[in-house]
Amino acid sequence: MPATAAPADFVVWFRSVAPYINAFRGKTFVIAFGGEVVADGKFVELTHDFNLLAALGIRLVLVHGARPQIEQHLAKNNLGDTYHQGIRMTDAETMQCVKEAAGRVRVEIEALLSMGLANSPMANADIRVAGGNFITAQPIGIINGVDLMHTGSVRKVDVAALNDRMDFGEVVLLSPLGYSPTGEVFNVTLEDIATATAIALDADKLVFLMDTDGVHDKKGKLLKELTIVQAQEVLSQESKGGKRKLPDDVSMYLPCAVRACEAGVARTHLISRHTDGAVLQELFSDEGIGTMVVESTLNTLRAATIEDVGGILHLLRPLEAEGILVRRNRELLEREISRFVVLEHDHRIVGCAALYPFPDEAAAELACLAIDPQCRDRGYGQVILVHMTGIAKSQGLKKLFVLTTRTAHWFVERGFSEADVSALPAQKKSLYNWQRKSKVFVRKI
Ligand code: ARG
Repeated sequence: MPATAAPADFVVWFRSVAPYINAFRGKTFVIAFGGEVVADGKFVELTHDFNLLAALGIRLVLVHGARPQIEQHLAKNNLGDTYHQGIRMTDAETMQCVKEAAGRVRVEIEALLSMGLANSPMANADIRVAGGNFITAQPIGIINGVDLMHTGSVRKVDVAALNDRMDFGEVVLLSPLGYSPTGEVFNVTLEDIATATAIALDADKLVFLMDTDGVHDKKGKLLKELTIVQAQEVLSQESKGGKRKLPDDVSMYLPCAVRACEAGVARTHLISRHTDGAVLQELFSDEGIGTMVVESTLNTLRAATIEDVGGILHLLRPLEAEGILVRRNRELLEREISRFVVLEHDHRIVGCAALYPFPDEAAAELACLAIDPQCRDRGYGQVILVHMTGIAKSQGLKKLFVLTTRTAHWFVERGFSEADVSALPAQKKSLYNWQRKSKVFVRKI
């Protein structure tokens, strides 16, 4: 968004990013991508985004793959590609190709990360790339009688050395190779290197760039957020008799996300490598662009406290301005704060409502139900309604009513029916604003 096009939008947008900039400074992100990104010539754009992340003080470990390049080398040398149970078998000749391919990809990436062209996002960039023998690998060995030879898995990550490099402000670039104490080199998958490194570093984020744009449900809808348990459910849909075939990337990376999350990596993101700026959209917006795997849900519904007044006002003001809600001033809100609940998503207030009981009439009013417009269609309103109904019931109340001018259909869909103003509790009736002409909806609870 050029600053000149719509300055107001630009300023709003730039300010909205500030919380992430603050939250991410000094944090460690491991970002993994296949050799396809380099082969497709897409790495230039990605370089710009990595440069921005590094400039914001994020400690970066990049992990690259080299699958298409290895295949090319094998073909050039008339060597076949042998897989056993989805794992490449690496004999001595294949290993030679792996080393050449990985080396070549690495050099290309280092070259692009060194760009500093004026009039480009890389102007003034000064990225120092670190590499080395950070990964110790071990042979996978013999599976069902087949010796996978130089194919390895991660045995140890040199955390101290990686942290040293990042303390110096360097970006670490890991190739899909590991070394052994006997001086051997092993061919290791990028996902194993990335996952093991993120776990060992206790990274804040692990990001996989993949062919699809995330994980989808059976109907094809993108699942923006998955808890470990939900991710395991998706994976089991495939394993249980193979009823559902997940895209290859999802089968490959989703288990890594679960493994990382179980081991304490706070968030793993699966995003498309085909969308320009996907990394930025995922990291610097609330809703992201792909699938994020987290340990448990980021939503909390809780009683509001005086500290929440600002956040609640922020939600209510636009609705008050539109005349959807009656205006409440700060003092009133502070006085009545104990009546409110707030729904937080990722530590941000995205919804609220208040409950006013009228014990004499065994009824309660549900008021100020508001959801952040950016978070519509996530079912948050329903979550709050169910919660408030529970509170009212626990107080022995039998009826819930709302006064609304615009959202009647939403309540009708949830079992409320229109009632006359005379049905309101006496105290409420006397305060009824005849000019506003709100409709009354009631539901037995
Ligand atoms: N930008 C935030 C983060 O990086 C939230 C991302 C949410 N992404 C999602 N796919 N739900 O942690």
